[in-house]
Amino acid sequence: MADRTRTQVGIVGAGPAGLLLSHLLALRGVDSVVVENRSRAYCEARQRAGLLEAGTVELLRTVGLGQRLDAEGLEHGGIYLQFAGERHHIDFRELTGGRWVTIYAQTEIVKDVIQARLAAGAQIEFEVSQTEVDDLDSDSPVLRYTDSAGIQHEIVCEAIAGCDGFHGICRDAMPAGLLTTVERGYPYSWLGILATVPPSTDELIYSRHEDGFALHTMRTPQVSRLYLQVPPDEDIARWPDDRIWGELQHRLGLPGWDLKEGPITEKAITPMRSFVASPMRFRRLFLAGDAAHIVPPTGAKGLNLAIADVTVLARALISLVRDGDPALADAYSDTCLDRVWRATHFSWWMTSMLHIDPHHDPFDAALQLSQLRYVTTSRAAATTLAENYSGYLSAVWLAG
Ligand code: FAD
Ligand code: DHB
Repeated sequence: MADRTRTQVGIVGAGPAGLLLSHLLALRGVDSVVVENRSRAYCEARQRAGLLEAGTVELLRTVGLGQRLDAEGLEHGGIYLQFAGERHHIDFRELTGGRWVTIYAQTEIVKDVIQARLAAGAQIEFEVSQTEVDDLDSDSPVLRYTDSAGIQHEIVCEAIAGCDGFHGICRDAMPAGLLTTVERGYPYSWLGILATVPPSTDELIYSRHEDGFALHTMRTPQVSRLYLQVPPDEDIARWPDDRIWGELQHRLGLPGWDLKEGPITEKAITPMRSFVASPMRFRRLFLAGDAAHIVPPTGAKGLNLAIADVTVLARALISLVRDGDPALADAYSDTCLDRVWRATHFSWWMTSMLHIDPHHDPFDAALQLSQLRYVTTSRAAATTLAENYSGYLSAVWLAG
């Protein structure tokens, strides 16, 4: 017989979306339980995003999660676009009336929120198995899981948030025929590394090179993060460290500029995909973040979208479970999908402009170069990039 308890909101997944949702709900007195199938250490070490839109930073500050972010985050006012042997600066502040972005790793956001939630006495169950959501056609959906000691639990909820990422269970628990999914695969992957070496650049460099895309980003003044376009089914074993540095030097190199090398502490290959599932809700089951949508990483949008979703969702759930008002819950999916599709277009556009197609189609290559030339010479085109990159349609959390 399973242990049976109640909570207001059951949350599946302790990634940035699930953790932040639990924090936002608690700020307005709404209880939640978070269940996560990985360990706390794994969640805190999983290397992923690093670039935050200004709206994301402002949200984290407003809700009391800005202390370390303000001390350690690196504010950037633009990016470099490199192609045809030239490096051009896109100045976001000048183009958009002062907008900026911040480098602060997803691992650090996850650590900050876990610490804040546990200090507030929250229930986060790590290392669970057999997560299930049930009774979705009722006003009291049920979340089931087995804890790390093998004890089965059943939590009766007023709503469930599926924040369980692309490979989670909540999206598939929606009734057959409800969801429409659209998808686009890309014929390349990213090989990402973390290296203990000061960044060789003050702001990110996105480089279109005839032998493949490369990106130089960073984590701290001592740690660099770099990415290389590789074939979609590439084997990481084919990339010893000296081959990685050689290729990064080749694709990012410019006369008079030096790429500093250092020990590689982490390397992994990530496939690229666009995916959108809609609607993001069935009755009292709500999807948020990567559970509902995936973008290729070139526009740095995935984490920002996940945070925006749960900002909208928290307000909707507070109205629903505390005040009995379903209006925001009814609007949730459409509100999020406007932003999701803007980010999906921007990410597809950045990806298509900067990566080398494996077929080396000369027509595509000429279009890419024309587009890059336009973005780096036309103020209107550069402003479009700057406005989308720094965050368009930010979600707002009202303090107090
Ligand atoms: P996740 O972080 O995937 O969290 C989901 C959680 O649910 C996980 O902890 C998982 O273990 C758990 N879970 C899954 N199934 C179950 C289950 N059955 N039961 C319990 N728990 C479960 N985005 C940006 O905005 N900027 C960037 O610069 C950027 N760079 C990226 C670089 C790379 C290499 C990658 C891979 C991604 C990048 N992203 C970036 C995307 C970003 O990391 C994701 O969009 C973000 O992690 C989404 O957060 P989430 O909470 O929705 O999902
Ligand atoms: C990072 C990742 C991205 O995909 C991107 O476009 C910018 C930055 C990063 O990991 O820092």
